[in-house]
Amino acid sequence: MANQEDIFKKVISHAKEYGYIFQSSEIYDGLSAVYDYGQNGVELKKNIREYWWQAMVQLNDNIVGIDAAIFMHPTTWKASGHVDAFNDPLIDNKDSKKRYRADVLVEDHVAKIEAKIEKEVKKAAKRFGDSFDKQQFLETNPRVLDYQAKADGILKRLGKSLENEDLADVKALIEELGIVCPVSGSKNWTDVKQFNLMFGTKLGATADSAMDLYLRPETAQGIFVNFLNVQKTGRMKIPFGIAQTGKAFRNEIVARQFIFRMREFEQMEMQYFIKPGTQKEWYDTWKEKRLKWHLSLGLGQDNYRFHDHEKLAHYADAAADIEFRFPFGFKELEGIHSRTDFDLGSHEKYSNKKLQYFDPEENKSYVPYVLETSIGLDRMFLAVFSSALQEEELENNTTRTVLKIPAVLAPTKAAILPLLKRDGLPEVAHKIVEELKWEFNVVYDEKDAVGRRYRRQDAVGTPFCITVDHQTLEDETVTIRHRDTMEQQRVKVDAVKDIISKEVDMRYWLQRI
Ligand code: GAP
Repeated sequence: MANQEDIFKKVISHAKEYGYIFQSSEIYDGLSAVYDYGQNGVELKKNIREYWWQAMVQLNDNIVGIDAAIFMHPTTWKASGHVDAFNDPLIDNKDSKKRYRADVLVEDHVAKIEAKIEKEVKKAAKRFGDSFDKQQFLETNPRVLDYQAKADGILKRLGKSLENEDLADVKALIEELGIVCPVSGSKNWTDVKQFNLMFGTKLGATADSAMDLYLRPETAQGIFVNFLNVQKTGRMKIPFGIAQTGKAFRNEIVARQFIFRMREFEQMEMQYFIKPGTQKEWYDTWKEKRLKWHLSLGLGQDNYRFHDHEKLAHYADAAADIEFRFPFGFKELEGIHSRTDFDLGSHEKYSNKKLQYFDPEENKSYVPYVLETSIGLDRMFLAVFSSALQEEELENNTTRTVLKIPAVLAPTKAAILPLLKRDGLPEVAHKIVEELKWEFNVVYDEKDAVGRRYRRQDAVGTPFCITVDHQTLEDETVTIRHRDTMEQQRVKVDAVKDIISKEVDMRYWLQRI
């Protein structure tokens, strides 16, 4: 089996080869951690965004959407705490001159310990066969328990040092663990320093009158500053939510792992405004709801886990990540944060405007608490894309590369293929394209033998291929080939639309939530 690094390289090259993701400004040698979405990528991204929007806004009558500007008044970021506290601890290796996030170096070390646990599990599963009880093994095997205790201990200490801003201890931890620079292999580290992640820019024509601005590092603040506008104009009653998708910008130090950590990315966030004191209940509810949303896509239950935060951000009283098994291991995909009244309270203070809700049941006004769900659209893209990419051994000793993107998210739903380029078959195929294009994205393809065209559509992730052959001319039937099973059915041309609709319609997928 290919190792993690090879699989990840395959994901990146496949994304480029099939028009999903390109390096930004590639002809000028690219821009680090900035990416462009190609003709198929833009469709997949749009479908993921829509799947989120329908689940959050359309299906919840107490959640509405907004689209706030990327530029915001600079005081926003003072009030939100980003000017003072949106920092990453960084460390340089004196030999390679490379810069790293100190916490990521430690977390990568822990990931290696966790990989050892997975290896033990795999070995034991092989040894014990069907009688293997994974849970029991994890809870009783001495070697696994030892690894787990080590990993937990390291993360706990890291969390504590970061919370206490004890950067000297973070460095001490790196040294004690014997972590080496991946480039130079040396342990010659500088001290750990804080680095603010916001990008600055200027608004205004002349140097003296220009105002210093930041590119927003999260979309959430656009929701907080509009809380009262939406509440009043929408006559919203607590609990209610405001959702938004849009670009965010962070000057990430560790800008690797493809679209996992980008400097310009897109978030899909929802702030749920609640009565103070109910935050625990809503925290649990939204953790469950969001996990269900993920599971509805069928990427595999084993690919998700929760990670409860030891170190809480400056605004939170509880926080958890939904982690996904990316090609480089389990990593954060989405955050669920109980943000208390920190943001609204702080904006009240800095703006001198009341940001309160009059609760008719309580007959009093208060600053609502907030429960936030925040997911990176690009990260979700990577989760879908990387888990979809598979190499399959076929019966005739050949392999096929197939991108098993959930049909509801696939960029193109069907390819229409005339078996031959003559005998009137292309004309019939074009007619089918003309019919279906009103319903969903379809493509026409007549180049190469039909087997090669199937492979091409498998690799690009098209869930259905509709083939027009000579029998079509006689009885108005076509074959419909299913990407995942490669099964082919002969159906009436008139039935094609319904067969595809049933499998790509968001309603059928969202009903699983
Ligand atoms: N408003 C809360 C907030 O922004 P966060 O944990 O910093 O919380 C939320 O970010 C989500 O945004 C993450 O779970 C991740 O999916 C995505 N995200 C954060 N930084 C990112 C980056 N540099 N590149 C891509 N996605 C990122």
